[in-house]
Amino acid sequence: MALLQIVTYPEKSLSMPSEKVDIIDDEIRQLIHDMAETMFHESGIGLAAPQVGVNKRILVYDAKSQDPDDDGSEQKITALINPEIIQSSGSQLSENEGCLSVVDFRADVKRYEQVTVKAQDMDGNLVEFDAHGLMAVIMQHEIDHLDGILFIDRISTLKRAMYKKKRMKQLKEETAS
Ligand code: NI
Repeated sequence: MALLQIVTYPEKSLSMPSEKVDIIDDEIRQLIHDMAETMFHESGIGLAAPQVGVNKRILVYDAKSQDPDDDGSEQKITALINPEIIQSSGSQLSENEGCLSVVDFRADVKRYEQVTVKAQDMDGNLVEFDAHGLMAVIMQHEIDHLDGILFIDRISTLKRAMYKKKRMKQLKEETAS
């Protein structure tokens, strides 16, 4: 296992649509393990492959946040390959949403309250499940990554422009120092 480098806005891989995974081989399984380790290390609750610079339709998420019987002692790897939202309903305000790839910024984002996700698991089996509340937000946020969409693409033009300006200034200062 290895920690991967998380790329940040405005890195190009974050705005590119990702490719479908045809064969789940050792390389893909290794990537998934490394993504999960990186996510736990960064205290994230979800991570998509474009965030580590790989434009493949893979995401990992922290399932224990959804399981009340889980005491958190075991870090389970939950990966979805080629995930799609096949049905969605309701709406919720995802308060203070953030992203490991969007540095120093959070915002409220309007999301569906419920989504049905269809995907493959690490063994290539088809899985289909309903997600509500926070888990529905995680699914929408991470699947957006696979389509090259960040949460800042789902906020007002003004707020997005403000963030872009702030980020550009920050990057300029980093380069200068
Ligand atoms: Ni994200």
